[in-house]
Amino acid sequence: MTKDKVLNILKNTNYYVSGQSIAQNLQISRTAVWKAIKSLQSDGYNITSHSYLGYRLIETTKNLTAQEIKYFLNNHSWSDNIIVLDSIDSTNNYAKKLAAAGAPEGTAVIAENQTKGRGRLGRSFISFNGKGIYLSIILRPKVQPTSVFHLTASVAEAVAEAIEKQTGLECGIKWVNDLVVGKRKLAGILTELSVEAESGMINYIVIGIGINCLQNRDDFPCEIANFATSISSETGNYLDRNELVASILMNISDMSKSFITKRSEWMNRYKSRCITIGQHVKVLKNNGSRDAIALGIDDNAALEVEYPDGSRECIATGEVSVRGLYGYI
Ligand code: BTN
Repeated sequence: MTKDKVLNILKNTNYYVSGQSIAQNLQISRTAVWKAIKSLQSDGYNITSHSYLGYRLIETTKNLTAQEIKYFLNNHSWSDNIIVLDSIDSTNNYAKKLAAAGAPEGTAVIAENQTKGRGRLGRSFISFNGKGIYLSIILRPKVQPTSVFHLTASVAEAVAEAIEKQTGLECGIKWVNDLVVGKRKLAGILTELSVEAESGMINYIVIGIGINCLQNRDDFPCEIANFATSISSETGNYLDRNELVASILMNISDMSKSFITKRSEWMNRYKSRCITIGQHVKVLKNNGSRDAIALGIDDNAALEVEYPDGSRECIATGEVSVRGLYGYI
């Protein structure tokens, strides 16, 4: 796309570059260059223009944009189907419609805001306009649902690794899908799948990832203020959300190729990050709650717990949630 190519030239030039030389380089008209520059400016790129010298990129955009994500993806095969929206009810809902209409594996839907973001077990997930990452990715593994019980856990691991690499933050995982830093929730994952009735095989999977990025502590409403955090409030630094989205897409792409064949490897990485193991927890099921100790996690990412009467149970993901005995963790 012309806009992506013009952006690449501006990013690779430290000074001004003339409209003429961009046009020659890309074999397009100077009007096409001008249109691409206008469109990049409206996406939030600070580009200055000078009548003799041409164009110069002063500062990249702080908004989420497809071309910025593609720039960081650096020709990765998932660069072709990136959709960035201002606001939507839920990126998972949008991605499910695209998947049902045949969108390919790797299609990613990203929004600055969600009006009806959804969490696990029918809960809602609060979105903060322009401050988070709300991302849904379509996968199409040709297997039965029983082969992907450990997918949400593998996604959590892949996302934690991307966050750690870019920010240096140590991310833990609270079973099964919450990324935590310093006992506060940083991100959550919601996996939804559609199965073909005749074959029993997976038709598509939508992985939904919500990450708190640029919120200040006082952005969080009081119900979650003590349990939630964001990347910026943990590091004290600005975060380039486009770079993080690209890094997550690359990690999820790698994970999607190996999470079935290298299941134990993924689960070992997950287990060594999971802070729930060894903890006293409350198992919340069908409106009831039982105290237990979390003993371990199996290769389906199910949590093995022991109750005070000595009985044990393996809790499947998606079935229940666990809480620490004295709070969220
Ligand atoms: C949870 O914490 O229970 C899971 C939260 C998942 C939120 C993400 S944000 C992007 C995608 N769209 C949604 O409606 N939900 C997921």
